[in-house]
Order: sequence, then C-alpha cells, then structure tokens
Amino acid sequence: MAESTVTLNNGVEMPRLGYGTIGQTGEQIVENVAFALNNGYDLIDTANRYGNEEEVGRGLKLSGRPRESYFLETKLGPTLYSSQGAVEGTLKRLGVEYIDIMILHHPVNDYISGYRMLERACREGKIRAIGLSNFPQEKVDQVLAECDIPPAIMQVEGHPYYPAENAAFCREKGIAIQCWYPLGHGSQELLRDPVILGVGEKYGKTAAQIVLRWHIQMGFCPVPGSRSKGHIRENSEIFDFALSAEDMERIGSINRHEPFYKVTPESLKRLAETKCNFEE
Ligand SMILES: NC(=O)c1ccc[n+]([C@@H]2O[C@H](COP(=O)([O-])OP(=O)(O)OC[C@H]3O[C@@H](n4cnc5c(N)ncnc54)[C@H](OP(=O)(O)O)[C@@H]3O)[C@@H](O)[C@H]2O)c1
Repeated sequence: MAESTVTLNNGVEMPRLGYGTIGQTGEQIVENVAFALNNGYDLIDTANRYGNEEEVGRGLKLSGRPRESYFLETKLGPTLYSSQGAVEGTLKRLGVEYIDIMILHHPVNDYISGYRMLERACREGKIRAIGLSNFPQEKVDQVLAECDIPPAIMQVEGHPYYPAENAAFCREKGIAIQCWYPLGHGSQELLRDPVILGVGEKYGKTAAQIVLRWHIQMGFCPVPGSRSKGHIRENSEIFDFALSAEDMERIGSINRHEPFYKVTPESLKRLAETKCNFEE
C-alpha cells in the first residue's frame, strides 16, 4: 500500500492527498474546508490569487482540528513577488501563525525576489517548506543556482492524459510533484474513459477514485477540488485498495502527452498582471 505522506527534501512530512479550493468563495468554501478536514483530508491548498484565504482560514477553525494536525498550503501571487509584507499579509488573511508550505504561483515577474522572500519567511519560522508551481526546467535551475533553499515541491498539471511530463526532471532534483487538475478539471472524457471505467469496475471504485489512486501510486500528490460534499468524501477514499502493476500499465496507455491547459505568451502576460482581490 502506498504511503499517504511524502517526506520532503527538508525533512517535513507532507500529506499526499489535498483538497483544492480554486473557484470557491464565501460560506461554501468555509464549510467545504471544514468538511474536507473532517472527512479524510490533511492538506488544504489555496492561493493569494484565489481570493478566498480569509474564508479558508475560517474553515480551518470551523473544522475544530488543532493547527498542527493538518497541512496548509498557499501560493504567493506574481504581483506580490516584490511586495514587502506579502507573507505576513497572507498569514493574517488565513488567521494562522505559520503556513506549512508556500510556493510561487507562476514563473513570471521577479520570481527570484519572490523566492528570496519565501526563503526569509522560512528562516523566520513563518513557513515550514517552500516550492514552485508551473516552473519550466531552466527557471528551476536558475532558482537552484541563485537561491539557498531548494524547492521542496513543484505543483503542475497532472492526470492520466498528461502525467506531469513537464515536471519529470524534478524527481532527480529531489523535488516532489504535486498535481493540479488531478481529475482533468472534471473532464467527462477522462472520467468516462473506458480504460478508467473498466479498472473501476474491477475494484468496485469510481472513476475519480481510480484516477486519484493512480496518482498516489505514480508518486504524485493530487489536490482534487469539488463543490460537492459527496465528491469530497468519495475522493478521499483511495487508501483502502491498490492498483495492480498491470492496471497501472493500462492507465499508462491512455497518456495523450498533452496538457489541458496550454501556456502561451498571452496567458503568461495575464498571469503576470492580474492582481489579487485584496490589492488596490
Ligand atoms: N498551481 C496552479 O496553477 C493551479 C491551477 C489550477 C488548479 N490548481 C489547484 O488544483 C486544484 C484542483 O484543480 P481543479 O479543481 O481545477 O480540477 P480537478 O480537481 O481536476 O477537477 C475538479 C472538477 O472535477 C469534478 N469532480 C471532483 N470530484 C469528482 C468526482 N468524484 N466525480 C465526478 N466529478 C468530480 C468537480 O465537480 P464537483 O464540484 O461537482 O465535484 C470539478 O468540476 C484547485 O482547486 C487548486 O487548488 C492549481
């Protein structure tokens, strides 16, 4: 049975499965964060840019769980990479004294300044581990060459149609791979793929559970999102079975080598410029 946690390159133990909070605000996300923490999840993933850190923070408290019993992840927004006090502002919005892992959201703007800000906050005990999201290899190499603390994780798109191929280089650098769009952003094509459904039937598990279990056995750390309590619970029930090597291979055969999200110069420009909802 695969482990439910991964030991990061700085010794911190991180849960493999997380609950992703993009696109949800208001009371819905307060409730869903609390529900997730009481229904099989030990990691919550948010971002400065999601505009929901205050509500996520309220959900953490509503769960009733002691702070040290769960893992809190957030992302520094690209417009804040050179903003003094951005980490402290994040702690305040979340209503916590420390963040377990904070990562740079995108490889745009002055990301070296942003990374140094995370390093300082790490040394000051405000963050336990730091990492990156969506960084190509040459920019990871630059961070490794110019900064002191190696990134502990890389968060990128990953699912059976595109098994995080752009982050494969991270493994040899000791950087754990965490996957966004772990369910293909809810793609019906993926969740009704005959191979996935066939494997599901064999184990008595849903398509989403087969895909998430595949992530765990691939060594990935998936952060599925859902607005539905039924799906939130369903997605956590993946540690009571294991896929055979043959079924892992069958799922491997549906790789399309193509991400759903395409990075373009226009998308990078938009990511560099879009402000967080709390910025003026
Ligand atoms: N770093 C980055 O740049 C980046 C980018 C994108 C996302 N992320 C992170 O990754 C997380 C996940 O991404 P995502 O939410 O876009 O994609 P996802 O987790 O792959 O898919 C979410 C979609 O799948 C559906 N779904 C969830 N569980 C299901 C189930 N058991 N059966 C059927 N459908 C199910 C959801 O619908 P229901 O609501 O109806 O369940 C929703 O439409 C985000 O929340 C965020 O934390 C990071």
